[in-house]
Amino acid sequence: MSLIEKSRLMARVRVGVLTLAACAAMGVSAFDAAPKATADDKHWLLGPVPQPQDNVSTPERVELGRALFFDPRLSGNGTLSCATCHNPALGWSDGLKTGVGINGTVLGRATPTVVNTAYNTQFMWDGRKKSLEDQALGPMKTPEEMKTDFGNALTMLQSIPGYREKFARAYPGEPIAEETVAKAIAAFERTVVSNDSRFDRWVAGDAGAITLQEWRGYQVFKDPAKGNCMVCHAPPNFTDNGYHNIGIAHAKGAEDLGRFNIRKAAVLKGAFKTPTLRDIELTGPYFHNGTAVTLMDVVDHYARGGDDRSNVSKDVRTLELNQQDKLDLVAFMKALTGSQRSASIPALPQ
Ligand code: HEC
Ligand code: HEC
Repeated sequence: MSLIEKSRLMARVRVGVLTLAACAAMGVSAFDAAPKATADDKHWLLGPVPQPQDNVSTPERVELGRALFFDPRLSGNGTLSCATCHNPALGWSDGLKTGVGINGTVLGRATPTVVNTAYNTQFMWDGRKKSLEDQALGPMKTPEEMKTDFGNALTMLQSIPGYREKFARAYPGEPIAEETVAKAIAAFERTVVSNDSRFDRWVAGDAGAITLQEWRGYQVFKDPAKGNCMVCHAPPNFTDNGYHNIGIAHAKGAEDLGRFNIRKAAVLKGAFKTPTLRDIELTGPYFHNGTAVTLMDVVDHYARGGDDRSNVSKDVRTLELNQQDKLDLVAFMKALTGSQRSASIPALPQ
């Protein structure tokens, strides 16, 4: 071993000793590992992506859908694609309080991620769409969002040889029509999956994948007497696909009745769909109106039992959480981030 190598080694040993000493002083060990996952924890394993009978994924469909998802030529003025708002670099959302549509129109609700929507059974904050296929045309047809003129859009797609080829390969025998556009986009969205976070790896048996603190946060998350989060953010995708009023206050004049607009049951006034929490670290600000900036803001919201309690769910109440419990909960949520951070942006057919 050369002198230089020796001194480097010594430096490393010193850093190691210092770290250990610092940890001992804080009363924790750097080597405190999380306990192993139990059979019960396996409920969180996400199965294969469900495929609808009439639109089973093929590589050709996914590639066509990817191009359409990123193509601003589908919007009324050529400036907006799905990816403008569902930006892969921003957790497939937009980093904004609420969405911003065509010509800078500020929308009433936050842009949800498309991550793991493949596993959903209801779509939009109020669940007004029943499938990804059903959802896909909505933003194009909405005047405040993409303001697509479908006559023009279909003519555009039919006039581009690259698109003609892609459609023919993806949906042989079917025309280039609204329906095939929607199906291709949905097939692409079903590939936007987060299932390999450190938490997922821990559940799958890699005991060292999460820290003791993250594991403690997971206990707070599950415990009905502590965080009580799991009643709604249920396995395997951290959602019960249900609607709840969690006590979010609205500014005067900005009330949003949520699910009640779709189904007139009193309990649904101000109720919104439970979102997944996978990749949650990447998609702030949070809630349907973007009023929570950080994950700690979210935890504080729940800890105080919400703000507007006029129609709040019985499962949202003041929580007995100390500062450490809150930090642990946030750490746990940050262990839910998968590795798929961005998508290759396709070369658009010309
Ligand atoms: C101007 C920004 C914007 C554009 C462009 C946009 N979206 Fe959205 N998207 C939103 C907002 C906001 C919502 C939630 C609206 C609501 O719930 O009322 C949403 C909801 C969704 C959802 C439902 C997610 C869930 O968890 O239920 C999907 C899927 C989706 N969009 C896909 C698309 C696709 C596909 C396109 C392109 C065809 C697109 N979006 C274009 C802003 C946008
Ligand atoms: C009564 C059901 C319920 C309980 C209990 C609950 N949640 Fe939620 N959670 C929801 C719903 C519904 C939303 C969306 C509400 C909205 O925006 O109006 C939500 C939103 C969130 C969001 C923001 C998601 C996003 O994409 O904006 C986070 C983070 C979150 N919850 C974490 C937690 C944690 C942590 C706990 C436990 C301390 C918890 N939740 C308890 C139902 C619940």
